[in-house]
Amino acid sequence: MSVNLRGRSVLTIDEFTQDEIRFLLQLAADLKSQKRSGNEIPRLRGKNIVLLFEKESTRTRTGFEVAAYDQGAHVTYFGPSDHIGRRESIKDTARVLGRIYDAIEYRGRAQSAVAELAAHASVPVFNGLTDEAHPTLALADFLTMREFTAKPLSELTVAFLGDGRNSVARSLAVGAAKLGMDLRIVSPPIFWPATPFVEHVKSQARISGGQFTVVEHVGAGVLGADFLYTAPWLGEEEAGWAERIRLLAPFGIRTNVVEATENPHTKFMHCLPACHDRNSEVGARIAKQFGVECMEVSDAVFESKASIVFDQAENRMHTIKAILVATIAG
Ligand code: CP
Repeated sequence: MSVNLRGRSVLTIDEFTQDEIRFLLQLAADLKSQKRSGNEIPRLRGKNIVLLFEKESTRTRTGFEVAAYDQGAHVTYFGPSDHIGRRESIKDTARVLGRIYDAIEYRGRAQSAVAELAAHASVPVFNGLTDEAHPTLALADFLTMREFTAKPLSELTVAFLGDGRNSVARSLAVGAAKLGMDLRIVSPPIFWPATPFVEHVKSQARISGGQFTVVEHVGAGVLGADFLYTAPWLGEEEAGWAERIRLLAPFGIRTNVVEATENPHTKFMHCLPACHDRNSEVGARIAKQFGVECMEVSDAVFESKASIVFDQAENRMHTIKAILVATIAG
């Protein structure tokens, strides 16, 4: 396949063709293998990348930083307290950073902010998470699926349980549809994605030969799944936490849900951070305040042999590296 992504931004997974996604996955696999064997060639020497994080991050930040360092590039980090857009418009910030850096990563809320950066920066801009999309995560998800099954991606069945409107579910759904997978969103109807989005994903699935369904019935949604996937239930805004926990409780991934796949090889995935026990500040608070020991996943499933969450987390770095090499290498 002939693919050239040089100079391209990564704002959503939607803007990439199936061939381009497959190209990035193969490049990530190659770079991962090169790193492991000590044969990595630094292709980003002399490049500078700025990382703008308006929200906290562990995986995305370290993924960009280590990917850049491995490839010989340098990074500058701006954290949530640096207030991008407060004293200077996003448009002006984009034009300044575009003169100084070779690429910009941005994590914030509005998709329009990352789009505006890309429109004015004249260098590639990478979406490190907005309220609408998480494209670098979706690539890591697909690389991880590739590693844990002998099936082609187009033959996989994936069930996402939880809030079907969030950016993790949306990017997973769009990417899966482009790759020809059978992707099910398993959610209470109040958390189903909007109809125009569902229609768009279905249209992508029709082109690739995939399937996209949104269902409420957990048993039907997970039957035959090769991968069960979930994401944190609670956001930064604490209002409405109790109601979200109540509505999402039947969609938590517990041992009985894994068994309901009737697939002995099914794997469990999570974008992380996960609320599976009391051993985090949030986990302890949730247990005390709401009387629940775990939320989107039980500790038993999280720690089970089916869980591949740390392989998935590691792959954030390898797929981010593939994006950097494909778009800004000399
Ligand atoms: N899932 C995810 O994006 O991880 P971080 O928030 O740690 O970057």
